[in-house]
Formats: sequence, C-alpha cells, structure tokens
Amino acid sequence: MRCKLLGKVICSLSLFLIIPINAKELNSLQYDARLCSAQLLVIRGDLSRLQLDDTKHHHKTGLKQRIAGALGTLAWLCKQNSFEKDLDFAIYKKQIENIQYSFETEKWQILNTELTALVSKMPLNEDTFNFKQLSKNTLDTSISIYKHYCKACHDKPSSESKTPAYSLFEMVKQMPRNEFLARMIVGVHGTPKIALRNPLTDDDIAGMTYYFENTASDNPTKEKIKG
Ligand code: HEC
Repeated sequence: MRCKLLGKVICSLSLFLIIPINAKELNSLQYDARLCSAQLLVIRGDLSRLQLDDTKHHHKTGLKQRIAGALGTLAWLCKQNSFEKDLDFAIYKKQIENIQYSFETEKWQILNTELTALVSKMPLNEDTFNFKQLSKNTLDTSISIYKHYCKACHDKPSSESKTPAYSLFEMVKQMPRNEFLARMIVGVHGTPKIALRNPLTDDDIAGMTYYFENTASDNPTKEKIKG
C-alpha cells in the first residue's frame, strides 16, 4: 500500500479503528507495569545508539528527545511495576532519580549501569509471546497487519527525519529479541478512544517478530538503525 502524508495518517488511524485492542488481556496496572519494563529496554537501546560515533547528529538529537520523553513517565510506570510485583518502590524511586540526573548531566556510563540494574529488577516477561506454538493462522494475520498497516511507513525510512520509521526487518536483526519486543510494545500507539493503548495482541507481536526475523527485507535499504 502506497500512502503519502494524509494517506499515511488515514492508514495509521484505520489500524486502530479496525484491530481489536489488547486491553482485555491486561488490566491498567499490568499494562503500565509492562510498559515500565519495555521502556527501560528501549531507553537502554537508544542510549547505546546515542553513544555510537557513526550515529548522525540529527538522529542523536531525535534519540535525546525520545529518551527525555520516556524518562518523563518512567517513575510513574515503574511505580505501577513495583505495585504489581510487590516491590518496595522507595528503593527504585532513588534509582530512577539517578537515571534522570545522569541523563541531564550526560553521564552516560552511570546511566547505562543504573538502567541495566533496573532492567534486571523489572525484566520484561517474554512468556506471553507464544513463539514456540505460533499457528499458521496467527502468522498469516500478523503478516497481513504488517502489510496493510505498517509497511507504508516502515519500508522506506527517510534519513532526513530525526526519528525515522526504520525497516522492522533490519531493526529486528540488530538487537536482542527482548529489546525488539519492547519496541513493539512501546512504539505502536492507539487513539485517545482506546486510551492510546497499543492495539496489537501479544500473538500479533510474536507473529510479526517471527516474520521479520525470518524474512529478508522485501525492500532493502541502506538505512541502518544505528545511522
Ligand atoms: C504513520 C506512519 C507509521 C505507521 C502506520 C506505523 N509506524 Fe511504526 N513508527 C513510525 C515512526 C515515524 C517511528 C519512529 C518514531 C520514533 O522514533 O519516535 C516508528 C517507530 C516504530 C517502532 C520503533 C519504536 C522504537 O522504540 O524505536 C516500531 C517497533 C514500530 N514503529 C512498529 C510499527 C508497527 C508494528 C506498525 C503497524 C502495526 C507501525 N509501526 C505503523 C511510523 C509509523
């Protein structure tokens, strides 16, 4: 599907009107708790791209904006995570404050260490992504969702943009699976009507991830995620 500007907006909106939402599976506390785990992985991944010498300057600006935005809600999300797991949030609150301070003062090494510590305390549960028993039906549905609702934006990343819609086929091969799953959780948004929740089910995410992992990009591009 070829969509430009207005077309793209309509494409993305229609996705969220048609696809059933994941909300029925996770209550609000569980949803936010999982976002905390996913967000930690995404921030850590973005941070490592930010530190690469060959990351372009305007992409670094985009990455800094993304990290700043993510840090804005991290304390709230991780508070939900500690409620859900019955952890003492007071301990993590201090760590999150350190993370925010290290980011503001560009102490990347400390930031990375603190993030890694939190990732291990609040890991993303991958058991809900049923990779071992993916049915053909699930896979077909996921491929169809990708082709109808994602491909138009993601198959030709614009290197002009500070935050390009990278090729998902390339992205999946450049990072650990848990980080890619985290990006699929954090990076897809719904409309205000569904409280901006990600409309993809875990089966959709597992099916698409499997498809990206096992397929060479159908539209090869030189644009790499780290560039
Ligand atoms: C209207 C265009 C558009 C559509 C449609 C779209 N995306 Fe994206 N997507 C983007 C852009 C732009 C970004 C980069 C945003 C950023 O870096 O903040 C992005 C980022 C992402 C990311 C990475 C997030 C991260 O943390 O790096 C994932 C994963 C993703 N999209 C998956 C999907 C999937 C799956 C679909 C279809 C269900 C989809 N997108 C549909 C434009 C789109």
